[in-house]
Amino acid sequence: MQRSILVLYAHPRTERSQANRRLKRVAEGVDGVTVADLYAEYPTYEIDVDREQERVSRYDAVVFQHPVYWYSAPALMKEWIDLVLEWRWAYGPGGEALRGKLWLNAVTAGGAQAAYGPEGRNRLDLRALFSPFEQTAMLCGMTYLPPFALFEANNRRDRSVLDAHAAGYAKLLRDLRERTLDIEAASGLRGLAGLYDKPAGKG
Ligand SMILES: Cc1cc2nc3c(=O)[nH]c(=O)nc-3n(C[C@H](O)[C@H](O)[C@H](O)COP(=O)(O)O)c2cc1C
Repeated sequence: MQRSILVLYAHPRTERSQANRRLKRVAEGVDGVTVADLYAEYPTYEIDVDREQERVSRYDAVVFQHPVYWYSAPALMKEWIDLVLEWRWAYGPGGEALRGKLWLNAVTAGGAQAAYGPEGRNRLDLRALFSPFEQTAMLCGMTYLPPFALFEANNRRDRSVLDAHAAGYAKLLRDLRERTLDIEAASGLRGLAGLYDKPAGKG
């Protein structure tokens, strides 16, 4: 059976976004994927926790799509995590609502990939920097996938990079839906872009 996928999209200035706006459109075009625009739904940050719990419980995979802000996610996405993943619901005694679901961060970063490593100014790679997300997923009994990241997202000189990433995002979402991605093998990677960011015409 196909997986159902919920993309939680968080961009506080989506009208100015180059990368995420495009990637959001890509996700909206994939059958079986529902996109929720959190800043559009909750401009005053008053998240309806019951509604969100009911919504997220209906899906097999949750994709957190956002720009990297200070090595993390924009504030409303953190607010969503803070409020929706309640004790006794998401974790703790009887807290099994999210057990077995997939967690994926699909992100864009201003920095170059080379900056995310021991030699780079960010010292750690994105998977290491995202360890709070990974541990949150683990605590909730979810399966964490390494981040699918577009680096140098503000570089508009070469559109083919964004084009390849957008095509890779669509393929990743379809593979998640069709269960054609080997989750166990993918879980061991530092990131998913190597699997999916192939320039057009090169397989
Ligand atoms: C408040 C803020 C914090 C940011 N923090 C980071 C960061 O920690 N690492 C990084 O690589 N880029 C960072 N950036 C750059 C954004 O990630 C980048 O502009 C964005 O991914 C571009 O995508 P967009 O076109 O969808 O806005 C930050 C940008 C802003 C506005």
